[in-house]
Amino acid sequence: MYTIALYNNKGGVGKSTLTLAMADFLATLQVAGRPLRLLVIDMDGQGSISTALLGEGLTQRAKSGGCSIGHLALQLANGQQVNLQALLQNRSGSRGGHPPLPSLTVLPSERESMLDFDANPLRPLTLLSQRLKPLLAQQFDLVLLDLPGSLDERHLLAINALIMSDAVLIPVELTRLALQALPETVRMIRYAQEKNVQALPQPLGFILNRTDRRSRQYRLHLPALQALAEQQQIPCFDNHLPHAADLANASDDTLTFTSLKDRYGTYYPHVRKVVKELFDRWQHQQPSA
Ligand SMILES: Nc1ncnc2c1ncn2[C@@H]1O[C@H](COP(=O)(O)OP(=O)(O)OP(=O)(O)O)[C@@H](O)[C@H]1O
Ligand SMILES: [Mg+2]
Repeated sequence: MYTIALYNNKGGVGKSTLTLAMADFLATLQVAGRPLRLLVIDMDGQGSISTALLGEGLTQRAKSGGCSIGHLALQLANGQQVNLQALLQNRSGSRGGHPPLPSLTVLPSERESMLDFDANPLRPLTLLSQRLKPLLAQQFDLVLLDLPGSLDERHLLAINALIMSDAVLIPVELTRLALQALPETVRMIRYAQEKNVQALPQPLGFILNRTDRRSRQYRLHLPALQALAEQQQIPCFDNHLPHAADLANASDDTLTFTSLKDRYGTYYPHVRKVVKELFDRWQHQQPSA
């Protein structure tokens, strides 16, 4: 099983959108003659990705029934027996008689402040990697983690998630404000890496979002990103994601999509290329890991 986190400390740079589209694409893949067993964990209390994948109704029912990564983490921290099957939510596909989007499994989020972590802090920070990862490995091939922005050392659940990740993808935008936020993003990833006692080197990568290589913005800001990438030895993906107007509706759970192209428009082929590049880079890094 592989675990991929999508993280950038800056809000609105496209973490959840990329997680959503990657999940839909990955769920179409076959591994050894069967569909890839994919789990999406919503680490963001806003719940955008749960709502986009499951719909508002199912997401709310799941959360009020205690089916969230936060509740699961508390059970693990308390040393309770975890019934994973009862917490996971399935998107089985068809809505409104249209051809279904691929099936996948989702674990919704809960705001950390709603949970009594103060009484039972999520320590060690490797709780999820040590206790949850082995459980998930029994039934999934790949786990995607949609992280929130604005993290610091107090966000124990999200840091647990970073530590549990085998790879971290960092969607970035070539704007001055987004670039200013990047050193803090890298600092949090390094912090998580330091706390990870198993300390496998994590493949990382910056993925340019809303990018047009012919634009002035690209020429103006790319050197700053490249300098940081070189200094931190974090590669920039060759493939980028364009601005795609169709995405305005992609996470609207009141709409029914007849296909993935219908949902993501011109963004979709680029997501496929990014995923392929991720797997290529990964294969390349495996021997030294
Ligand atoms: N390539 C793109 N083209 C057009 N719109 C995009 C693109 N990427 C993201 N968006 C839009 O930008 C908004 C913010 O994206 P998203 O929610 O994915 O960001 P985020 O990083 O997850 O934000 P947060 O930190 O709040 O979780 C959304 O409305 C989304 O549809
Ligand atoms: Mg998000």
